Amino acid sequence: MIRLENVSLTYNQANTSVQALQNVSLEIVTGSRLAIIGPSGCGKSSLLFLMAGLYRPTSGEIYISGQKITGPRQETALILQDYGLFPWKTVWQNACLGLEIRGVAPSEQRKIVAPILEQLGLGEFTHHYPTQLSGGQRQRVAIARALALQPDLLLMDEPLSSLDALTRENLQDFLLDIWQRHRFTLVLVTHSIDEAAYLGDYIAVMSDRPGRIVSLVENAGSGSKNFRQSQHFHTQCNNLRHMLGVGAV
Ligand SMILES: Nc1ncnc2c1ncn2[C@@H]1O[C@H](COP(=O)(O)OP(=O)(O)O)[C@@H](O)[C@H]1O
Ligand SMILES: [Mg+2]
Repeated sequence: MIRLENVSLTYNQANTSVQALQNVSLEIVTGSRLAIIGPSGCGKSSLLFLMAGLYRPTSGEIYISGQKITGPRQETALILQDYGLFPWKTVWQNACLGLEIRGVAPSEQRKIVAPILEQLGLGEFTHHYPTQLSGGQRQRVAIARALALQPDLLLMDEPLSSLDALTRENLQDFLLDIWQRHRFTLVLVTHSIDEAAYLGDYIAVMSDRPGRIVSLVENAGSGSKNFRQSQHFHTQCNNLRHMLGVGAV
């Protein structure tokens, strides 16, 4: 469904230029879950913004469902690292925002958003403001807003990295639930080895900047809740640790 062909990206600013990505080629199957892992600054967010159509590659091409990407598309939703919620809007208003921007009528917004907030366990919090919520709840509001757009592709940039370990594991399970129900293609950027190994049915490992894909690992067995307790999961984590050079002296 998603095809990246020799994608490179160089940022040019004033007199300096920074090459963020170099010849990234990748195919992502429709309905799969791709985790992208790599060291800080290697170009993960840049890669996601390119897939979202927010940036244009310096060279190379990106296709989604056969269409060359030259700008944002309606069916793609992006969840940013800091959730992107407006503090002066309630949970309800934040969740409706994407639909509001698209000019969807309020009655229609209600029909779409109410069951999603219910499903995400936020039904009682519709009148709350983001500051009145926990980090995990805020992240779920951001997910609700994305799901309201009924995306076929959900892009997430380190969505769980600022949460405590327990909340993170709960939300990882929760993300799998949501994916099972909605079956969008999921591309999730993370710097957490266990998150990549738990959530991705494929894991793309990136090099230091300029980011390249050094390996695309198939992660059979992921996607079920008991995977975290399995030997396979631990082997996969060690495998990734090794590829990323963690612990190497
Ligand atoms: N808008 C920008 N202008 C100039 N340089 C940028 C911009 N965005 C990112 N970079 C640089 O590109 C590299 C990759 O950044 P980024 O994609 O954010 O990496 P990651 O998400 O893996 O941490 C970094 O060196 C960063 O400083
Ligand atoms: Mg980033």
